[in-house]
Amino acid sequence: MSHAEEILKEAERFPALDPTALNLLELLQSDDFETREVVDRIELNPQLTIKILRLANSGFFGLRREVTSVFHAVNLLGKTNLVRLLLSATVGPIISQALEGYKVEEGELWKRAIAVAFAARQYARRLNVDVEDRVFISGLLCDVGKLLTSSWVEKHLKEIQVAAFEEGCSFEEAEKRCLGVNHAKVGSILLDSWDLPDSLVEVVRWHHEPTKCGAEYRTEAELVHLADYSCALFGIGAGSDGTHYRPCHETFEKLHVDFSLLEKVMIDTMDELEKSSFMFESP
Ligand SMILES: [Fe+2]
Repeated sequence: MSHAEEILKEAERFPALDPTALNLLELLQSDDFETREVVDRIELNPQLTIKILRLANSGFFGLRREVTSVFHAVNLLGKTNLVRLLLSATVGPIISQALEGYKVEEGELWKRAIAVAFAARQYARRLNVDVEDRVFISGLLCDVGKLLTSSWVEKHLKEIQVAAFEEGCSFEEAEKRCLGVNHAKVGSILLDSWDLPDSLVEVVRWHHEPTKCGAEYRTEAELVHLADYSCALFGIGAGSDGTHYRPCHETFEKLHVDFSLLEKVMIDTMDELEKSSFMFESP
């Protein structure tokens, strides 16, 4: 069996993200959701209920009274904070692990994921593309494939780095050459196996090569790529692949993104990261 076949076999056994939370995140993307519906869905999941109440009482929100019910928590926190809570309660624990292959310590991939999500949303706003919520989720999950490829990258790191140096290619191209598959493809296969929408699967698949994405989701892939590259440039969660990141110049030209815009996006992103520091504490 080839490396790629073995990696893809592992993907089939990989535990899925909590479907209740993903369902809720989707519901919260619409403007006309009913609070009662959100509360009912959370309450159907005891583990999620406990996490929400613990985080709501964590001190970050500075609430004077104790939050004792999900209804109370949802009403007090509002949509933005609720989305942050859901993400930190569900995606956070899965994506927080240290990844030896990519030389990122515990919590670094999670921080990078949040930063890419914030930056992708910032780019969408500043470039007037109406996909803010969608690129937030795809930015957040763009490197989820690394959870699987990391142990393989660890075993073949020297070979991958030599390929990237000698052939002057990006880290993920070198991953593909040495392992037969890269983390972007593995991530898209994982998301597809979790029945997540095509837009998410496609954007994650092409977040390093946005021009290869189908026309329908290409702009979203470009926004996530810009966000991911900007975070790498600012050293957020950059590991063994950081120095070999190849930005897509065509995307920069097409969307008229210069360093001044990149800097503005990253200043706002750092600010949002600062305000969301509670998301990096273990609940
Ligand atoms: Fe990536």
